[in-house]
Amino acid sequence: PRSIWLSRHGESEFNLDGRIGGDALLSERGELYARKLPELVASSVKDGQKLTIWTSTLKRTIATARFLAASSKGYDKLEWKALDELDSGVCDGLTYQEIADQYPEDFKARDDDKYNYRYRGGESYRDVVIRLEPIIMELERSENIIIVTHQAVLRCIYAYYMNVPQEQSPWMEVPLHTLIKLTPRAYGTEEQRFKANI
Ligand code: G3H
Repeated sequence: PRSIWLSRHGESEFNLDGRIGGDALLSERGELYARKLPELVASSVKDGQKLTIWTSTLKRTIATARFLAASSKGYDKLEWKALDELDSGVCDGLTYQEIADQYPEDFKARDDDKYNYRYRGGESYRDVVIRLEPIIMELERSENIIIVTHQAVLRCIYAYYMNVPQEQSPWMEVPLHTLIKLTPRAYGTEEQRFKANI
């Protein structure tokens, strides 16, 4: 059977400061993860299996996948705008503390209904689920794919394959520096997690 591998980008400079959104590059630790990704993937791919790499259009996912793309395996690579991180609109680049200070009502509204809350000038998780529909359709008719993208986006894709109601996607656990392998089977999706330990 075919599998789908999911990975967040390596830790970014914004992750270090607790800032959301943006288009930052990787931190030193994030770089280490990018360098380790080819062997992490290799340990969970069967010999000779072909793999296609999908990233978002943001620097941190492209940087994370670059060693994997350059590996001797000759993997194809595609960048999708639809895989970009949930757009946090006017809150882009802020920390959660800054959001709470500058937009207290929004901060509370999001806490009350994280799935439906739409950032001013940005998106909600519900919006992300809708924009991911073409991605899911393409995934359903594809062979082995590794998706290197962002936390909110991965939570939605993960919930879809694990048969969790989409409303629960904002709470799915998709940690940094962990490769998730999903293998859809007749009775449900089989999951394996591989930690990079860096
Ligand atoms: O802004 C996107 C973050 O990756 C998701 O974090 O939805 O838990 O705030 P959050």
